Amino acid sequence: MERDQLRFYAMSIDDLGQLMEIEDYSFPTPWKRAMYEHDLTRNEHSRFFVIKNRETNELAAYIGSWFIVDEAHVGTIATKREYRGQRLAEQLVAYTALQALNEGMAYIILEVRVSNAPAIKLYERMGFERVGLRKGYYSDTGEDAILMTCTQLESLAALLEIEEGSN
Ligand SMILES: CC(C)(COP(=O)(O)OP(=O)(O)OC[C@H]1O[C@@H](n2cnc3c(N)ncnc32)[C@H](O)[C@@H]1OP(=O)(O)O)[C@@H](O)C(=O)NCCC(=O)NCCS
Repeated sequence: MERDQLRFYAMSIDDLGQLMEIEDYSFPTPWKRAMYEHDLTRNEHSRFFVIKNRETNELAAYIGSWFIVDEAHVGTIATKREYRGQRLAEQLVAYTALQALNEGMAYIILEVRVSNAPAIKLYERMGFERVGLRKGYYSDTGEDAILMTCTQLESLAALLEIEEGSN
């Protein structure tokens, strides 16, 4: 679990075996594998990234966003249980912010369950602001979503510590 072995990569179909184990563990209503396959192969707006160990290929964390017009919308983010609390989710948001800047996006936006204290804490620490409440947004539990945005993409990108992998 050496942090200095961790690198960013574009998510690939080959990552989905490991990813789905993390997905199933992490969410009350996980995405189906086919949803990831669709985003990776047929959605030109998708920007999906992983953090992996460059030696072992172990998948530690992942994020999936859609860049549309000037909006980078984070749709999924999770960290493998053993890697939580090491700021990998922060790194993924920072990396997405860098890509968003490079592609002329104006802001990042996401929804988070009102009960998801670790995620809300993470986003607020990074400078995201609460801009709305979507009542009953999550159909599985009827829970509300907090809508959060950040326009300070340079500040987010400045948090980057992990490097891009080369293969
Ligand atoms: C939310 C999640 C992605 C964070 O991943 P991570 O790599 O551990 O994130 P970070 O280390 O960057 O930050 C996590 C923060 O949550 C805090 N945290 C952890 N458990 C917590 C808890 N039970 N209550 C409150 N805060 C908690 C950590 O202390 C840390 O904040 P700090 O560094 O300021 O102390 C991860 O917990 C996860 O995969 N959860 C399941 C999927 C999910 O909820 N995704 C978000 C959907 S919006």
